[in-house]
Amino acid sequence: MEGLSQQYRSLFPVLHTHTMLASCSQSALALPVSRAIKEYHDSLLQTGANWNEAIKKTESARNEFAVLIGAEPEEIAVLPSVSDAIVSIASALQDGKKKKVVYTEIDFPAAAHIWKAQRDYDLSVIPSSDGMVPLENYEACISEETLLTCVPHVNYYNGFLQDIKQIAAIAREKGSLLFVDAYQSAGHVPIDVKESGIDMLAAGSRKYMLGIPGTAFLYVRKELAEQLRPKASGWFGQQSAAAFDLNRFSYASGAKRFETGTPSFISLYAAHEGLSLLNEIGVSRIHVYIKELSAYAFQYASERGLRVMGPTSSDQRPGMISIYDERASETAERLKKQKIVCAPRNNVIRLAPHFYNTKDELTYVIDELVNIFACRQ
Ligand SMILES: Cc1ncc(COP(=O)(O)O)c(C=O)c1O
Repeated sequence: MEGLSQQYRSLFPVLHTHTMLASCSQSALALPVSRAIKEYHDSLLQTGANWNEAIKKTESARNEFAVLIGAEPEEIAVLPSVSDAIVSIASALQDGKKKKVVYTEIDFPAAAHIWKAQRDYDLSVIPSSDGMVPLENYEACISEETLLTCVPHVNYYNGFLQDIKQIAAIAREKGSLLFVDAYQSAGHVPIDVKESGIDMLAAGSRKYMLGIPGTAFLYVRKELAEQLRPKASGWFGQQSAAAFDLNRFSYASGAKRFETGTPSFISLYAAHEGLSLLNEIGVSRIHVYIKELSAYAFQYASERGLRVMGPTSSDQRPGMISIYDERASETAERLKKQKIVCAPRNNVIRLAPHFYNTKDELTYVIDELVNIFACRQ
């Protein structure tokens, strides 16, 4: 079972000293990603200017993300964060007659913050129970008046994986567009935007996609992108940015029109290498591997008396496991002293393995959690 991690562990030097289980927040830095960051840095240091190379690298990163999600490169915009991607979408949808936007109770809070900051939409929230949203709730909450349905692919809190194809079918039947926040899935759950019927999707680089902060990608289905006119704009979103003509305004074709200004090139160098590595290994293999780790961790944590939140089946929770802990931040600090990196959120400790992790690492961290909790009693 440990084949994938044994094959690739040596690419992650931090694993010699640390147990890294925080892919839901920041994955371990791979050597090729580290070298790419240095390449950008050194090219500035040694040649003074690297604009053309950086633009080329941006296109390569765009292509790799397109491959990752089964899209065409012209359907991908490069942006600084998933929040920026949602802001861009919100700025582009305001022209039509429909005003209703629905998002879920399990969305990452940024989605709600962004929609609440808009003036021109009628918002409603699709309820969840136990951190999951049953399909009936989508049936009940999406109506013919719904302009956009906004959902996470995987719940950032408990790892619950949604059935996007079914949600897309419900949204389509009611005439709603569908936006998927794939930040907690891209890189370990296979995504095929065409097959799933997704209209728009965003994911950032620093979690399971092996990159660093500063890069996110926004997919917009080509035919849809051509109809949208984002008010969040900039010279990178123009047809001919290189014309430097302030009297000309013409959106770039496809999703590129959602771009604004100069991207974080150094982050894009990292994103490109991370994505290349994922595409080389194959997300389907990674998915199978992590799902097995997750199933093991769930079973072992439960046996040791820990309370695991969210779904019990690894089909519905193929990645992180989320362990209830009222003092999660304090626990994470304590684990950090033992060189264990995991990601707390509110009242849970999230253990988020990637393809470089092993079953032994999960056993070790779960045992440490049991010890910490025992000392508190
Ligand atoms: C599911 C999900 N969406 C969005 C975000 C926020 O992304 P960004 O900081 O790129 O806006 C996060 C961050 O943790 C997340 O987990």
